[in-house]
Amino acid sequence: MCGIIGYVGNKKCLEVLINGLKSLEYRGYDSSGIAYNQNNKIKIIKSTGKVQELENKIDKNILSDIGIGHTRWATHGIPSVINAHPHHIGKTTIVHNGIIENYIELKKELEKKYHFQSETDTEVAAAIIDYYAQNNNKLEALKKAMKKITGSYAIGIIFDDEPETIYAIRKDSPMIIANKDNESFIASDIAAILEYTNEYYLLDEGEIAKLSKNGLTIYNNDLQEIKKKINIYQGNINDAMKNGYEHFMLKEIHDEINVYENIVKSYCPNYNIDDLIKNFPNFSQYEKIKIIGCGSAYHAGMVGKYLLENYANMETSVEMASEYRYEKIFPNKKELIILISQSGETADTLEALRIAKKNNLDTLGIVNVNSSSIARESDNVIYCLAGCEIAVATTKAYLAQVLILSLIAIVSSYNKKIINKDQANSYLLDIKKLINNTKEILDNEKYYQNLAHKIYQNNITFFIGRGIDYSLCMEASLKMKEISYIHSEAYPAGELKHGTISLIEENTPVFGIITEEEIALKTISNLKETKARGSKIYIITTEKIYQKYLNDNFYEDVIIIKEINPLFQSLITITPLQLLAYYVAKLRGEDIDKPRNLAKSVTVE
Ligand code: F6R
Repeated sequence: MCGIIGYVGNKKCLEVLINGLKSLEYRGYDSSGIAYNQNNKIKIIKSTGKVQELENKIDKNILSDIGIGHTRWATHGIPSVINAHPHHIGKTTIVHNGIIENYIELKKELEKKYHFQSETDTEVAAAIIDYYAQNNNKLEALKKAMKKITGSYAIGIIFDDEPETIYAIRKDSPMIIANKDNESFIASDIAAILEYTNEYYLLDEGEIAKLSKNGLTIYNNDLQEIKKKINIYQGNINDAMKNGYEHFMLKEIHDEINVYENIVKSYCPNYNIDDLIKNFPNFSQYEKIKIIGCGSAYHAGMVGKYLLENYANMETSVEMASEYRYEKIFPNKKELIILISQSGETADTLEALRIAKKNNLDTLGIVNVNSSSIARESDNVIYCLAGCEIAVATTKAYLAQVLILSLIAIVSSYNKKIINKDQANSYLLDIKKLINNTKEILDNEKYYQNLAHKIYQNNITFFIGRGIDYSLCMEASLKMKEISYIHSEAYPAGELKHGTISLIEENTPVFGIITEEEIALKTISNLKETKARGSKIYIITTEKIYQKYLNDNFYEDVIIIKEINPLFQSLITITPLQLLAYYVAKLRGEDIDKPRNLAKSVTVE
């Protein structure tokens, strides 16, 4: 959480910083600030609220060619101007993303020397750096500070007595460094600097970057200059722009077709299992799978469990990353731990990965962001290829995760000889249907817009289903609540009557997801039980189930989706519900891309 940007070069830096912060706002947006050098004096401007409010306070034409900026998602201390970054103490100004775990202890040590003003851990990190900088050169000071602080951090630093240089250090929080044509940057994410360059370096733990008009130098732990591998961002600048869509979320939902096509193009361009096997790790030695993730990634895992068990006969469990650490671990070489994460930086998932590795378990990351921590630390990685996702609520990346899990189910099923080559190839060919049907859903967007009108004034909704449909309910319900703030419950349809049904009142909207024929009648009965208590029912189902079981008109409305290979059915079931959540939030006038209290990349535990 929190976004960092830093710039030194020939441009007016305030403009670069504000533009960068706007692209990073998805990481946090309760306050923001910048520090810049003007005539050898470090000036700081901060504001609560979105970056726009900071921008309103700033004259972007101020002549300054070096500065650092920050957009915050509060962890220590309320969102306020005092707690906003940059923090200046002594002669040191810093912006920080992450958590300094030992800040209370350090604060006690430093309290006699420094007068702390904020409630943040960051101000303490600034003080420790400042303290060491008093009697050491800057590189040594940073090295000592890194030894002293524990926790996670990506920090950009400017010293009063060296106002034309930015230093950067990191551990466990993301930070990239770039240098092009006499301009250098630090940023939490490539999106912030894509306008200027798509080439970047990853700073590793213990390394220090020094950026000035003379260029970029990176030092290793022994403070020796090193050369690092340059990375090239494969997406394009349009990823960071709305391209005519009102919100990133809508743009990203419309991007789902491209995501499916990218995945096919990269892993099985001819819809052929032989290619897929070449491009995926071999799963045949594993008897068990545990999938770990948070939020939507966890929901993708729930779908994955169903697919792996039913298609590949693989015993699979799913765990929330934040709970995994409290579990007893049974080291088993025949178990594969799959970590799912869009950002690849989610602290809980990263910690789960480290625990699994400590226990000698094999790990596979299903990750969207290239070279992110989870991608780098997992034994194997499969990239989701969803491109840059900016809206805080995930849409296309979640579906990419589910599609990758479907492909793992196909590969595993083939490896275990449950299906033969022809079957495997015909399954893969069915992705074409998925793509065509998703196109139809997106063309029919107006339908979901109209449906949103029927429910947007309610304060509670339910999503109920059984089996794999329950997993989809979890995701649909999360989308609805996180962006529209309508309280939403996802419930296994059969479980509702064991307590929660007491929440159903006159006109409570209850959505039933029914994609499996064998359980259709049971879910329909559960829906009718809520109807008898006053609910208004909405159904999402396949054409076939609709024709066969939904003739009596007990529901308000129905979303009918095509029936496709069950391996991909979940994907076309979720897209309409993402659109519905989007239009409900829009009617309620909410800030869709940046819902309150949230941030896209949750790098705190
Ligand atoms: C919900 C959402 C979150 C993320 C979760 C995990 O729309 O986006 O629930 O899925 O925070 O994030 P990643 O996938 O980056 O680990």
